[in-house]
Amino acid sequence: MKKTYIVTGCAGFIGSHISEALIADRNNSVIGIDNFNDYYSPKIKESNIQKLLTSTQFKLHKIDLKNTEKVEALIKRIKPDFIIHCAGMAGVRNSIQNPLTYTQNNILATQNILEAIRISQLDTKIVLLSSSSVYGIQEKTPFVENMVANPSSPYGVSKFAMELLAKEYSNHYDMKIAIVRPFSIYGPRGRVDMAPFLIIKAAIQGKPFYQFGTNENKRDWTYIDDFVDGVTGLTKKWSFKTFEVFNLGNNTPVGIEDFISISKKLIGEKLNLDLTVLHKERGSEELPITFANIDKSHNLIGYTPKIKLEDGLNEFYTYFKKYRGVYDLS
Ligand SMILES: NC(=O)c1ccc[n+]([C@@H]2O[C@H](COP(=O)([O-])OP(=O)(O)OC[C@H]3O[C@@H](n4cnc5c(N)ncnc54)[C@H](O)[C@@H]3O)[C@@H](O)[C@H]2O)c1
Repeated sequence: MKKTYIVTGCAGFIGSHISEALIADRNNSVIGIDNFNDYYSPKIKESNIQKLLTSTQFKLHKIDLKNTEKVEALIKRIKPDFIIHCAGMAGVRNSIQNPLTYTQNNILATQNILEAIRISQLDTKIVLLSSSSVYGIQEKTPFVENMVANPSSPYGVSKFAMELLAKEYSNHYDMKIAIVRPFSIYGPRGRVDMAPFLIIKAAIQGKPFYQFGTNENKRDWTYIDDFVDGVTGLTKKWSFKTFEVFNLGNNTPVGIEDFISISKKLIGEKLNLDLTVLHKERGSEELPITFANIDKSHNLIGYTPKIKLEDGLNEFYTYFKKYRGVYDLS
């Protein structure tokens, strides 16, 4: 059966991968939305969507989701079967410096989508990308979906506010909404404000890479293909009626020192680069650990992450070697 998807943030890291996975099925068409904001270079985003733009199953709309009228008009016209909402402002540290933009792009922009569906009275299934940051500091790990959220940054708060808003729309208007909470997604096209890229950048520029905290500082690194399988699995196995929350993580947190030593070995072998590491205190906005319990995602949507960190980082550094010209790293 033919299906129409709207994928927001289609020129970003995750949105571009999700869009590609969807159009691999000839029955799917994808309407991509992105405003190519300058959180990082729009040149990288142009590169991310090169392959998508060659497909007749894909159409790009350069729209800012903060524009209520444009969002409503497009959704009314397209009447999508699914919306996968990947657009948003990411970055915990940046949210301390620029909190307002997180409220505007993560809460208000999402509400424009929910409002457009409500006003148009569509039966669209909506997947909203939240974040592991909503958990904040917890007494217990791994993080389970029904734990009380305790976000510790404007970014985490904006994502949790988005979740609450979505739950309220779902309750009142019977809207079908799934929240997914990604845990440190990495891989080809990975964001330039995240550790795998920052490590190469430091090595190329001959500058130190700062390690925040000790090896007790852990992240549940999740490979992009595993994450995308989780989201597409969710759209295929959608059996719930209204509102559900799913962790999409790897269930295997890795300490920062271990992460650096794997990366150091790979960039040495593949790119002939050396890395200097300096230490800094972990900021209060940064979580000491992220660790996903993935039982619910496994049982309800068949989510089973497969890629080991060494293999996934190897893919990322191979990609970087090929696309190095896209990044201004002289
Ligand atoms: N990458 C991760 O590890 C990770 C972890 C947790 C949550 N997330 C969430 O997943 C989503 C995608 O993350 P990503 O890593 O692909 O980030 P990204 O920055 O690469 O992609 C986001 C895209 O959304 C677009 N965008 C932002 N605001 C917009 C607006 N108002 N209108 C239209 N387009 C807009 C940006 O231009 C960008 O291309 C984000 O919501 C992020 O918060 C990501």
